[in-house]
Amino acid sequence: MTYRIVQWTTGNVGKRSVRAVAMNSTMKLVGCYAWSEGKVGRDVGELCGIEPLGVTATNDVDALLALQPDCVVYNQMFADLDVMIRILRAGINIVTTSEFITGHFFGADRDRIAAACAQGGSTIFGSGINPGFIQLFAIVSAGLSEQVTKVSVVEAIDTTIYNSPATEKPMGFGYPIDQPDLVDVTTNGSAIFRDGVLLIADALGVVLDDIRCDVEYAQTTEDLHLPGEWTIPKGHVAGVDVGWKGIIDGREVIEIRGRWRKGQSLDPDWELDMGYTVEVHGTPTIKTTMSFLPPADFVGESLDDYITLGLSIVAMPAITAIPAVVAAPPGIATYNDLPLLLPRGVLVTNPR
Ligand SMILES: NC(=O)c1ccc[n+]([C@@H]2O[C@H](COP(=O)([O-])OP(=O)(O)OC[C@H]3O[C@@H](n4cnc5c(N)ncnc54)[C@H](OP(=O)(O)O)[C@@H]3O)[C@@H](O)[C@H]2O)c1
Repeated sequence: MTYRIVQWTTGNVGKRSVRAVAMNSTMKLVGCYAWSEGKVGRDVGELCGIEPLGVTATNDVDALLALQPDCVVYNQMFADLDVMIRILRAGINIVTTSEFITGHFFGADRDRIAAACAQGGSTIFGSGINPGFIQLFAIVSAGLSEQVTKVSVVEAIDTTIYNSPATEKPMGFGYPIDQPDLVDVTTNGSAIFRDGVLLIADALGVVLDDIRCDVEYAQTTEDLHLPGEWTIPKGHVAGVDVGWKGIIDGREVIEIRGRWRKGQSLDPDWELDMGYTVEVHGTPTIKTTMSFLPPADFVGESLDDYITLGLSIVAMPAITAIPAVVAAPPGIATYNDLPLLLPRGVLVTNPR
């Protein structure tokens, strides 16, 4: 079967999704939504820095729905719930990296999403790397311990060259370090991590008494000029360490933590073990670290070439899930519902 795919926006992650779909022998790109006026009418391959694909980007949602693709790969900066519901009602499946893991992020609107799936006979699945695939990693690891006392996931990344101020500012980056409501800003901006905690709790078959968010910050001691024409002034937040914790009987049993820094003028100067550390505390304790490296023949000409590798691991879990999502019963599907996701169509003997 060849999966017919419509791509939703071509930003940082979207570009990697398009590239992955174009290279995958089991998939065919048939359409693409552009949010930016300037991208409408342009070839999607060119928008993504690869060869022309013969598919032009459009902002005509009805025309994209009329294509009746098997799946939309939704990578828009913010999830537009009304549009997602239209897609699902039209019987089209969605895989997404945008604010969706269990759907609880949307509060009462989660029911609208589930209803749209039921109406259209469609399925929605959300991933990313964190939250997303890394929680699956933790869930699989927990299967090795006879007793588990805590599951913890720590993402530690220097994000200096990640160019998405609109998704990073809500995490607290760029605010004055002494802004009174800073913790509220980060708690709201990182709320999707709560869904990651719920996903692990569901996998463990437990109900949490509470979910809590704790945050620490570091400031830059010099003005920090970043990609995306974004400057973080001296004395403003350039390091965020946010932990979402699941509590039972007053004990932290699940933790998902993001520890991100920018620039070389950070105070305090946090040291990072770059990558992901998954720790299942118990009998025995299972500790796994995951880092991503360039391929052996990688020729990086600019910093952008390196950041794209990190963006691929955000995009790929959703792409890999497409066959399972297309085959799944209608509704909201999480990693706990889907079978083992097989990396079909990616093995190559002549890499480029
Ligand atoms: N779970 C994870 O591990 C993880 C990691 C990174 C990112 N993400 C999520 O993945 C999604 C994409 O991230 P990204 O870095 O690719 O984002 P991005 O490049 O900053 O934005 C993606 C696209 O959204 C469209 N857009 C821009 N401003 C918008 C607005 N105000 N309202 C609606 N759409 C707008 C643009 O479409 P055009 O292409 O038409 O210009 C843009 O290219 C985000 O939701 C992000 O939070 C998840």
